[in-house]
Amino acid sequence: MAEEQKTVDWNKVKAFAGVMTNDLGAAMQGALTYIGDRLGIFKALAGAGAVTVAELAQRTGLNDRYLREWLGAMTAAKYIEYDPATMRYAMSPEHAMILAEEDSQFFMGGFMQMIVPEVSMAPKLMESFRTGKGLPQSEYPPEVFEAIERGSAPIYRHQLVRKWIPAMPAVEARLKEGALALDVGCGSGRGVIALATAFPKSRFHGYDAHQGSVERARANARAAGVAERVEFDVVDCTKLPAEKFDFISCFDVIHDSVDPVGLLKSIRGALKPDGAFLMVEMNVSARPEENINPIGRMMYAASTLYCMTVSLAHGGAGIGALMGEEKARELAAEAGFGRFVRLPVKDAFSALYELRR
Ligand SMILES: C[S@@+](CC[C@H](N)C(=O)[O-])C[C@H]1O[C@@H](n2cnc3c(N)ncnc32)[C@H](O)[C@@H]1O
Repeated sequence: MAEEQKTVDWNKVKAFAGVMTNDLGAAMQGALTYIGDRLGIFKALAGAGAVTVAELAQRTGLNDRYLREWLGAMTAAKYIEYDPATMRYAMSPEHAMILAEEDSQFFMGGFMQMIVPEVSMAPKLMESFRTGKGLPQSEYPPEVFEAIERGSAPIYRHQLVRKWIPAMPAVEARLKEGALALDVGCGSGRGVIALATAFPKSRFHGYDAHQGSVERARANARAAGVAERVEFDVVDCTKLPAEKFDFISCFDVIHDSVDPVGLLKSIRGALKPDGAFLMVEMNVSARPEENINPIGRMMYAASTLYCMTVSLAHGGAGIGALMGEEKARELAAEAGFGRFVRLPVKDAFSALYELRR
């Protein structure tokens, strides 16, 4: 057979080389972004106005040669601005909300902190690609769990009590009156602590299978002054007590879990007959063609680096972070839930489902 003449669209080649160069730069810059967060350089810049390298070195106590290179990278990436006339670097207040202000609802420090510990799993993951087996949570650097905590903290601080709970008026009323509530897969407890702070007449439990996260949750509850009303325990939530809770929440847990249907069945069984379950999952689709966007891209990577993989570690379902509404409905139906409502809450990252028995 005669070899077919290959026709190459050189504009397409050039355009994709540009995309790839940008992506390689972003991947390598990830290490410097991580360093900027961990060493407090973003925070130092945010409060400084326009600074020279020497001034930033003095503020941070860091080496000026390394800072100059780091500042060059951040300028090239347009995270900060550089004025060649004065040789000063500055961060805009808008960028500071994302890079430096821990209390801002747009803060992304948790995700910046995640870059290096998650990417460091790549060599071990290569073996998983060969065998299909996963990596248990115990294989991950403990910093991953701190990063998860910081990543979701802005949501709990700004959205959960003000926007998410009010989307379920009956649940809000019950929490105000005094209810018994449980957060399944509570991680370091930020979500349930926010609820306990907002609803002083209710009592709360936070259960997670990961010992380290539960210890952090207890410390966080003490720091928030709600330790009296939130009890944290290491519990495998596929074995919850029957008909105990008025309200159960679950933030980004079902897709990570080993046995999602078993977990949902157990949650359903643990609800009082008129109880409600809030299931929060990623606001993505199960279809690759609907995830061609920055969130889809980040989540497929995060899912491979962590979510899917920790589930597969225990011979689990390995659903992964991108299960979408369709799969959530399917799992809920399989677990026997009679009612499944997607709440009308607009959020770039999260989809909220209210389920009843
Ligand atoms: C992605 S983290 C989310 C943590 C927390 N909800 C947050 O938003 O920060 C998922 C958590 O679910 C926990 N988890 C998964 N399956 C579980 C199970 N069967 N019982 C208890 N915890 C579970 C994991 O240990 C992990 O801490």
